[in-house]
Amino acid sequence: MNYKQIVTAFFLVFSLLSCSKDDGNTPVPLNALATPFASTASNVTNTSFQANWVLVPGAESYLIDVSTDNSFSTFVTGYDALSNSGSTVAISGLSPAMAYYYRIRAKRGVEVSNNSNVITVKTTGVAAEDPTFLKVKANALANPFFVGVAVKAQQLNTGSAYDVVLKNEFSSITAEYEMKMDPISTGSGTYNWVAADKIVKYGNDNGINVHAHVLVWHNAVPNWLKDFSGTDAEFALEVKKYITAVVTHFAGKVKSWDVVNEAVDDNGNMRNTVFLTKMGPNYIKDCYQWARDAANAAGDTNLLLFYNDYATSTNINKQNKVFAIVDDLKASNLIDGLGFQMHNTYLSPAKTQMEADINRAVAKGLKIHVSELDIQVNQNNDITTFTNERKLAQKDKYKEIVKIYNALPAANKYALTVWGFKDNESWIPYSTDLNHPGNDWPLLYDNNFEIKSAHTGFLEGLD
Ligand code: G3I
Repeated sequence: MNYKQIVTAFFLVFSLLSCSKDDGNTPVPLNALATPFASTASNVTNTSFQANWVLVPGAESYLIDVSTDNSFSTFVTGYDALSNSGSTVAISGLSPAMAYYYRIRAKRGVEVSNNSNVITVKTTGVAAEDPTFLKVKANALANPFFVGVAVKAQQLNTGSAYDVVLKNEFSSITAEYEMKMDPISTGSGTYNWVAADKIVKYGNDNGINVHAHVLVWHNAVPNWLKDFSGTDAEFALEVKKYITAVVTHFAGKVKSWDVVNEAVDDNGNMRNTVFLTKMGPNYIKDCYQWARDAANAAGDTNLLLFYNDYATSTNINKQNKVFAIVDDLKASNLIDGLGFQMHNTYLSPAKTQMEADINRAVAKGLKIHVSELDIQVNQNNDITTFTNERKLAQKDKYKEIVKIYNALPAANKYALTVWGFKDNESWIPYSTDLNHPGNDWPLLYDNNFEIKSAHTGFLEGLD
């Protein structure tokens, strides 16, 4: 071997000996500093938490970044690459009910690893009355109203992100499904109150209004009642027993009930439900009478009874039928309010259609509940990502409906409720009724619980 070959061989052997091997037998630098793994925060209080991570072999110290946004465009004072030698560090001096983000890097000499995963943590407590919180701004109005959100019992654990956002931003809750007949009614005269009680207790314990939804709905009939083999009269007695038991159980704890939901079909006729079939066309009035009687018997004479339906602003036949039912109930003093679900899109209904529909209820002296507001931006499945154009269109549509509601006379105001928190939890992409063709982004918070332009539009509607 000549000199050149010997030198080449030497460096080849040296470089191989000086490298460790990974399991892929590909040589890697001996001192590659691994990326740390950040783990869940602990000891969370209203002004502090403990950041935790897994130690990295060979690291001499760690750098901790804490921010109020998950892109770390800014840092919480004192927590921009804070150096620490352990696997935990106390982060303090924070604000209550705020979302914080942290990430870790390992350090050895001048070498610094990549950023770890990002951990989200929300401090507990109640934020100062921040005017960018929906209910804070609504409560400051000359004629305030409840700002509501649909909830699930599992979301209501103290300190959860939902709990923090709810206490900051909302003054009313509606059970998205757990106060319906199918989860509660386990058989004739038997009831499962667990989830419903948790939701109602949460509202009562936290001074948050509870709108109870819904006593009678064709999409929430428990199987035992669907398969009921008794006579029609016995079926009606089961419904009466159920309404009486549930209204009595929650008497004094909920402010209002949707007694009947969606009794009118899309042609403007009475929907052909098991209730109509077995109890006859007077079933709606019977249900409201039983609810009113049960409330009064329990001393809950202030309970508000609502009727709730969808698409009445764009479907005049349906709108007319709903108001015929309302007139019949009102003649017997059996209805106090009307729920307009408002499962809208960024294109529809038009402002004038919503105003005309809602104003018919105002003229009848009813409380108005925009009861299930969400605004689809992809109802035709023509986008695959949430474009800026649709973000702004959705923001304008939220602002429009909030302005319409905010312009109502004080006597007709009750609540404006959005149907859920985060886009990825919306019913819309999954409903077999709706048959939505793709994905959608209909609510006020994104999948990371960050506020969207829609939330800004809601706030602007309160000006
Ligand atoms: O969470 C449970 C899960 O633990 C269980 O394994 C699973 C299987 O049964 O059920 C899950 O609960 C489902 C729940 O949605 C989850 O949010 C219920 O089955 C399902 O029935 C329920 O659907 C609700 C639907 O009403 C029927 O009650 C939707 O969340 C809710 O958004 C939808 O809301 C209705 C309004 O009440 C009336 N207006 C229309 C609106 C949309 O359909």
